[in-house]
Amino acid sequence: MTPDLMEAGAKARAAYEQRVATAGKGGGFGRPLSAGEVVFTQGVALYLQDVTVSFDGFKALNNLSLTINVGELRCIIGPNGAGKTTMMDCITGKTRPDSGKVFFGSNIDLLRLNEPAIAQVGVGRKFQKPTVYEQLSVFENLELNLRNDRSVRAGLFSRLSGEQLDKLGELLALIHLKDEAQRTAGLLSHGQKQWLEIGMLLAQDPKLLLLDEPVAGMTDEETERTAELFLTLEGQHSLVVVEHDMKFVDQLTEGRKKVTVLHEGSVLAEGLLSDVQNNEKVVEVYLGR
Ligand SMILES: Nc1ncnc2c1ncn2[C@@H]1O[C@H](COP(=O)(O)OP(=O)(O)O)[C@@H](O)[C@H]1O
Ligand SMILES: [Mg+2]
Repeated sequence: MTPDLMEAGAKARAAYEQRVATAGKGGGFGRPLSAGEVVFTQGVALYLQDVTVSFDGFKALNNLSLTINVGELRCIIGPNGAGKTTMMDCITGKTRPDSGKVFFGSNIDLLRLNEPAIAQVGVGRKFQKPTVYEQLSVFENLELNLRNDRSVRAGLFSRLSGEQLDKLGELLALIHLKDEAQRTAGLLSHGQKQWLEIGMLLAQDPKLLLLDEPVAGMTDEETERTAELFLTLEGQHSLVVVEHDMKFVDQLTEGRKKVTVLHEGSVLAEGLLSDVQNNEKVVEVYLGR
């Protein structure tokens, strides 16, 4: 999809929202979109074009362009300082690029939204350090994050619907914490806390998940299980995974998915892991060291 088309889409969308706001009703064609609803019909989940971010003149991102397809699981690798975390900061609204475009689906211009609004439209992010509520149980942590309009207090003390209970049960099974549901989150292992946090993200039904070094500090077995979990999520969600652990990346890419190598704020190489691992430039700046 060309940037022009995306821009045209964003303009059409803004005009539509304007009509809805003034007329109070949908424009009379097709199913009215609710505000902030992302459009994936073009097959693109995330689109970055020529994104540049400078910190005191230093370009942490330098004309970075990247497309992630709907349902795709993309691993991003690259040396420390390559700009991987800064890229996630730009997608989630934590950092404003100096220039460039960041689109979610074909219609949502993420550079126009703030952090909470970006989370609201369906972009979930997992930071390196788990940030679970240590005092609460595993179940309560998940419960707090179920998407609904109730306040935190109501979320904790009112009854869950059968549907919500089912969903929590499924989530607990997915993140391998069914037997730990009543356990205080602070007592979990590091790996289990990471899974809980992923479960908390999933409770909010994100369409796109950004995971920054998700297996750092995990045991080999936890790492393998995390890869299995991400492979289960692939397809239903689009995933962007930043990771240094090549065994993990290998497991995720299954010998057929492409990886992106970032270096000095731009894409250095893109292709199968086996190919980029043999790419001279990649070996020089990253793998060979
Ligand atoms: N808030 C900031 N202020 C100044 N420099 C920053 C800031 N955030 C990141 N950087 C710099 O930008 C570069 C890219 O950092 P980062 O995105 O964290 O890389 P990575 O995640 O690939 O290791 C690094 O040189 C880092 O020091
Ligand atoms: Mg980083």
